[in-house]
Amino acid sequence: MENLTRRRALSIGAALGLASAANVSGAWAWSSAGSIAGTDTVTDPFSVWDPVADEVAAKLLAEGAVPAVNRAWDSWVDNKDPLPAGLPDYLTDYLTQANRLPSWADPGLLAASEKLYKRLNSYLFVSESLGSGILSTVIPREARAVYWSAGGADMKNRAAKTFTFGYDLHSEEAWKPTGHFLVSANKTRLVHSVVRNLLVTSKRFMETADQPKPISNGDILITFHSVATVAHNNLKKWGIRLSAEEQAADLHAWQVALHLLGVQHQFIPATWSQAQSQADQMLWPVVAPTAEGISLAKTLLGYIEDPTLGLTKGFVNEMVRYLIGDKYADWLGLPSDWVSRALIRAAWPTYVAFREGLSPIAPDGIYLFDQFVRGVAMMFLNNGTSPTQTPITLPTGNRPG
Ligand code: HEM
Repeated sequence: MENLTRRRALSIGAALGLASAANVSGAWAWSSAGSIAGTDTVTDPFSVWDPVADEVAAKLLAEGAVPAVNRAWDSWVDNKDPLPAGLPDYLTDYLTQANRLPSWADPGLLAASEKLYKRLNSYLFVSESLGSGILSTVIPREARAVYWSAGGADMKNRAAKTFTFGYDLHSEEAWKPTGHFLVSANKTRLVHSVVRNLLVTSKRFMETADQPKPISNGDILITFHSVATVAHNNLKKWGIRLSAEEQAADLHAWQVALHLLGVQHQFIPATWSQAQSQADQMLWPVVAPTAEGISLAKTLLGYIEDPTLGLTKGFVNEMVRYLIGDKYADWLGLPSDWVSRALIRAAWPTYVAFREGLSPIAPDGIYLFDQFVRGVAMMFLNNGTSPTQTPITLPTGNRPG
């Protein structure tokens, strides 16, 4: 990585008084009374991982079975698909348990989430890709894990795989037999388990690691807030009307998603207000620049600028500034573009109101915003090159070099 980038992160970090990756686990105080388990206990989610899935992953790696598993599960896509043939018995046994909805999943709320996401997925894609995608680069543990894992060396492919998860969750048939989310969530959970086993063998990753292994339940919740809680707040900020049932449906879809990702029920927030209080304790205090995050942000932003869609560097940078705020954008060294800034700040809320039928006034830049929203949606589909998605596969190693 460029020395310049590392120096930049270190000097910003020093100026902010950040020693290294912020560690919130010492001060953990969120009571599980606010969780779906409803138990009045305080347990540190940063020291809980996913032991059963992690053990399965360890065995797959030890046996060199990962490439064969990736081939075998390529055709395992729909929720209704049987588990693929050709998997090791212990993986089939594990998936037989894991690949199902929890008993508390509410079919009515899940169906309501499909309807809601169908209506709003273009705004969610904007919030989650450009907003949360770049926000993830100022979450130190996530940025370092992504950078030093195999996917960090090929961010275009890695981002496309991650979008598969978002796209499947926000699909109008996410939870139906023909939807994909159950399968994508199970594949993702196993990717994380493989990564937990692999990253501890990366010298470069472990040099700055502040946990015995990465991707604890707490870290997954941080990412959940950086995506779902932030999107929830953005929809409100943009004046999008959500009924109480729609808000409950959005949260419920994520509660089931977190369960499928291996997060224990004692940590899954029961309400949006509990989610906000959790985010205040675990997300916002830990954001900080890292050399790895600055490098990832630069790479990711390069993919979304698309001159054929009229999306200039200045417009994309300012959209990020609008979505994540100037402070974090400054850490990432994103230059300002005053013309785009003025346009976005004045016209994006009017654009959303117009598209939502809440205002008859078509704003300036409507074409540009339409192109932008379409461009972001295309990114969710294999970078716009194909109508199919990029399959989620288990890695076999870390970032080379
Ligand atoms: C892989 C989603 C939390 C680090 C993936 C993949 C998805 C995903 C869909 C598979 C795509 C791929 O292989 O690139 C999520 C979601 C999360 C979450 C929905 C929480 C709600 C985290 C956290 C970390 C993390 C907290 C680290 C602290 C990684 C890494 C990979 C990965 C390193 C593998 C990259 C590779 O080498 O291919 N994640 N993730 N994830 N995730 Fe996560």
